[in-house]
Amino acid sequence: MNLLIMGPPGAGKGTQAEVLVKELNITHISTGDMFRAAIKEGTDMGIKAKEYMDKGALVPDEVVVGMVKDRLAKPDCAGGFLLDGFPRTVEQAEALDTTLREMGIKLNGVINIAVPREKLIARLTGRRVCPVCGASYHVLFNKPEVEGKCNSCGGELYQRSDDNDEAVDTRLDVYEDQTQPLVDYYANQGLLLNINGDQEIKKVLEDILADLKK
Ligand code: AP5
Ligand code: MG
Ligand code: ZN
Repeated sequence: MNLLIMGPPGAGKGTQAEVLVKELNITHISTGDMFRAAIKEGTDMGIKAKEYMDKGALVPDEVVVGMVKDRLAKPDCAGGFLLDGFPRTVEQAEALDTTLREMGIKLNGVINIAVPREKLIARLTGRRVCPVCGASYHVLFNKPEVEGKCNSCGGELYQRSDDNDEAVDTRLDVYEDQTQPLVDYYANQGLLLNINGDQEIKKVLEDILADLKK
């Protein structure tokens, strides 16, 4: 199954993706995680991407599109994938359509998680992330079993550098301006699955799995 998961910053894309890829036995591709890995490695792309990310702005389309195209060509994507955080602009969506056409594969669905803006701010500013496996936690809504440590791998949880009030505000604005139009883009292709993300994490997952079965 080839899927996209979209929604504003903090909607729960990463949280749901982590479980969904195991349930569906497909590969998780998060462009945000790929950039954070590049930053950690100190590559040229990582250094450039960090400037945009820390402000809450989008990394330029040509950088992201090239990176995703290379990633989709890897053998682990042949059995299906879940793209998280890509596409984020109409240009990226068109580039993805072209790439998939060239590869002779199709998207099976686009999971669109909706959450009201005021709730997203609290989710993002209280988020803690595992640097080792990428799992997301929250100081109030999704606490790890041991404070400051990842449940699955024991990694020391940290706060993302773009999870501060200022960058969060910009990211939410950028989402509304540049990414929200993709909801119509995929609705027009008959691919959209609308999910209420303003519910418990488990319930959101149940709704996604039920919609995918339809
Ligand atoms: P990216 O890493 O994709 O960040 P984002 O889109 O801002 O989304 P988040 O990862 O912040 O949110 P999420 O939906 O995954 O939420 P999560 O599950 O963690 O991108 C970062 C940056 O990289 C971008 O700003 C941009 O600069 C660059 N970039 C990436 N892709 C790009 C692209 N295609 N083009 C250009 N630039 C790109 O959950 C959030 C919190 O809420 C957690 O604490 C979690 O525990 C909690 N939570 C989750 N679900 C629930 C629930 N149901 N109830 C209560 N709490 C919940
Ligand atoms: Mg994420
Ligand atoms: Zn971990």
